[in-house]
Amino acid sequence: MKRIPLLNHDQTLFRDIEVFEASFVPEQLCHREAQVKELAFLISPALRGASPENAILRGPPGTGKTSTVHRIFAELKEATRRAVPIYINCRHDHTTLAVYQRIAGQLFGYKTPSRRLEDIREAIAAALRETDAALLVCFDDAEHLVAAGTYNNLLYQVLRLYEGWEDLRAPGVIVVTSDLEMQLYAEADGAVRSVFHPTEIFFPPYAKTEIREILTDRVRQGLYPGVMPPAVIDLAAGMAGDAGDIRLGIALIKAAVLRAEVDGRRRVTKEDLISVAPGIRSPALEVRVAALAPGERALLYGLAERSLSGEEMLSGAVFEEMRDYIAVGKTTYYNRLRRLAAAGIVDLLRGAGGQQVVVLRYDPGDLFAACAPER
Ligand SMILES: Nc1ncnc2c1ncn2[C@@H]1O[C@H](COP(=O)(O)OP(=O)(O)OP(=O)(O)O)[C@@H](O)[C@H]1O
Ligand SMILES: [Mg+2]
Repeated sequence: MKRIPLLNHDQTLFRDIEVFEASFVPEQLCHREAQVKELAFLISPALRGASPENAILRGPPGTGKTSTVHRIFAELKEATRRAVPIYINCRHDHTTLAVYQRIAGQLFGYKTPSRRLEDIREAIAAALRETDAALLVCFDDAEHLVAAGTYNNLLYQVLRLYEGWEDLRAPGVIVVTSDLEMQLYAEADGAVRSVFHPTEIFFPPYAKTEIREILTDRVRQGLYPGVMPPAVIDLAAGMAGDAGDIRLGIALIKAAVLRAEVDGRRRVTKEDLISVAPGIRSPALEVRVAALAPGERALLYGLAERSLSGEEMLSGAVFEEMRDYIAVGKTTYYNRLRRLAAAGIVDLLRGAGGQQVVVLRYDPGDLFAACAPER
């Protein structure tokens, strides 16, 4: 009996499917030359036996902050042993112990069995001193440390690691956030600030043309020539630009190529892209909604309901209508609205007669799904 292959790798349109994975770090970060250069400059003293400078990286989701850090850390590891770059994902590691263990794990190559902070700290300092290396810690998505109440203590502990050790260089830290309301310098208390003098590097949102170039580059790396025509990339870039989310463009392209593959076609069409789009929620929306406080999420849910029912979205009228449901006063309501705007989920525009209008940036159905309590 002839077997029909269910998975046929010969037919693939992907030259390298990993290029479309969230963990992929591109070699070239187009339109981020200035940021990469600035961060490299701040770190460069570490290569010459001095301490790296501190930095704050700030910018909306998907603007290349994490990629920039990974790119520079990879180069630093290749270039020198005099600096030890450690990447901490604060969504996962936000207690002092978890961070110490992560640093020790990367420094020694295994997870320390010890749970005593002092022991781990000593071992880290001793290892750095022995190799005459400067520690450089990146706290990515540092707003999670602020939320967990560990931000000041961790910064204090890491930045003052050299104290009590002769010949140990002061470590550097890079703190990263996509929460534009979060002021990571202002969050630092006096004791931290006396050793924390960061330079801020801003990552602005990409324009549609920039998104198109980045996606074109990704397609060149990840797909065989001719698989995705420029007009289809343009459409993906337009959709990603409208959502303010480059990740959406990458996810759309991957899904559209898979669809063409299943159909046994060698070329992706606009129809592929359009037909996969409803199944792909904006990854940025998920991140943004996950970062909201419960009250903000409740307001967003109410706004999505109102928008679906087709009612006008003047912010004053919305408040009157929803005041019982949200059970808060006017000031809190407007604060929450501003938070939703700062998170890039709604826009607050001036309408006729100077009245403020709330405009949802996303489809109400997607907002319901993202706000659903089980998420
Ligand atoms: N300049 C660029 N060139 C190529 N790819 C990029 C560029 N900027 C972002 N990307 C891609 O976009 C996605 C998001 O980038 P990244 O994770 O670095 O953003 P971020 O600013 O850290 O976002 P968040 O704040 O949500 O963590 C990744 O898949 C990354 O490869
Ligand atoms: Mg990031």
